[in-house]
Amino acid sequence: MRILVVGGGGREHAIIKKLKENKSVEVIYALPGNGGIARDAVCVPIGATDIAKITEFAVENKIDYAVVAPDDPLVLGAVDALEAKGIPCFGPRANAAIIEGSKVFSKNLMKKYGIPTAEYEVFNDMDSALNYLETAPIPTVIKADGLALGKGVIIAQTRQEAMDAVKSMMADKVFGKSGEHIVIEEFLTGPEVSVLSFTDGKVVKPMVSSMDHKRAGDHDTGLNTGGMGTVAPNPYYTGEIADRCMKEIFLPTIQAMNAEGRTFKGCLYFGLMLTPKGPKVIEYNCRFGDPETQVVLPLLESDLLTVMQATTNGTLADTEVRFSDKNACCVIKASEGYPVSYKKGFPLTMTEEAEKHTFVAGAKLDENGTLVTSGGRVTGTTAVADTLDVAIREAYRLSDGVHFENAYRRSDIGQRALQALN
Ligand code: AMP
Ligand code: GLY
Repeated sequence: MRILVVGGGGREHAIIKKLKENKSVEVIYALPGNGGIARDAVCVPIGATDIAKITEFAVENKIDYAVVAPDDPLVLGAVDALEAKGIPCFGPRANAAIIEGSKVFSKNLMKKYGIPTAEYEVFNDMDSALNYLETAPIPTVIKADGLALGKGVIIAQTRQEAMDAVKSMMADKVFGKSGEHIVIEEFLTGPEVSVLSFTDGKVVKPMVSSMDHKRAGDHDTGLNTGGMGTVAPNPYYTGEIADRCMKEIFLPTIQAMNAEGRTFKGCLYFGLMLTPKGPKVIEYNCRFGDPETQVVLPLLESDLLTVMQATTNGTLADTEVRFSDKNACCVIKASEGYPVSYKKGFPLTMTEEAEKHTFVAGAKLDENGTLVTSGGRVTGTTAVADTLDVAIREAYRLSDGVHFENAYRRSDIGQRALQALN
């Protein structure tokens, strides 16, 4: 099998390392990949959103199966374009990827089909949004409709902050077209859980649950980031809650998408909040989460390629998706200053042991072939163990074997989960 993976972060590295476990995989091309991924796949300098070049490459290189990992190419129709050339893909078509691509779409979908989520209003012009905020309950949550590099959600603690957020999205257009329409929604409370799932549009097979750590600083302080670490499973997500989510959220979502003529295939990510009134959807993503994938896939015991192909072929019901009952912890090392501004270009080295457990997110090979840092999040190091506390300790010990100048990591990844267990 000749495989193509679109994307170039830690998530893609985790996907590639897992796909390589299948003996029938001859070659994996990563477009564009990164300097760390280059140790596991053939990296080709084609950008993840350059759909015309991706498709051309796939045809010329006789790709048997393509995995489109990031949100933007999915929303832009990378799967549609590849399928049009006869190349089977993992991931939703554009008409289904809209579940992440438009918050207005996903909120309206949930309302129409009775899927639990925060109460909300949609606004298409600034004056009516500002008018609504005069009397809206505070805190409130302002969301840009479209993709905004994970920055399009603002939790406003005061009325002024809420108004400023609306103005920045709708007048200053800080997220461009993504902020032309906005959602203002009810502020929910409760533990957050990420549940990634495989689906072929008929059945949903959830992966092991996980917990992200989004803030830059210890004890959930500082700015929101793409994620500074993860643990799996998430101790708040009990079997009872999982059953309820399957009935009230997962299956209804798949059925709703079918009813809309937008069958979703691939990985559907449910961002949930376990509120006092039950589990509610905070967001849907049309793809694997990052860094959730870096703890979830190391716990997958079934063959990833087989499961992915089953989502494409519609045979997921007959395909085993088995996870280990162990625990995993992933510790991200980022460049000091992330997510705002940071220096890059420092040599990245890893001990042999650390490298085995590390997914590279932000590093490239320079002119001399040296691996140097090139992004905010640089590495994710994952340990798997029988218990969560050992997984956490091991992940930190292994992460000590990853070296670059200016490295920063949180020191409390998994601590909240440990407390919840005790
Ligand atoms: P998102 O970019 O959609 O992942 O949202 C970022 C974060 O904002 C989520 O992980 C939540 O912590 C928080 N958030 C989003 N919507 C709400 C809400 N309605 N109530 C409280 N927190 C929220
Ligand atoms: N870690 C959150 C996401 O992938 O959206």
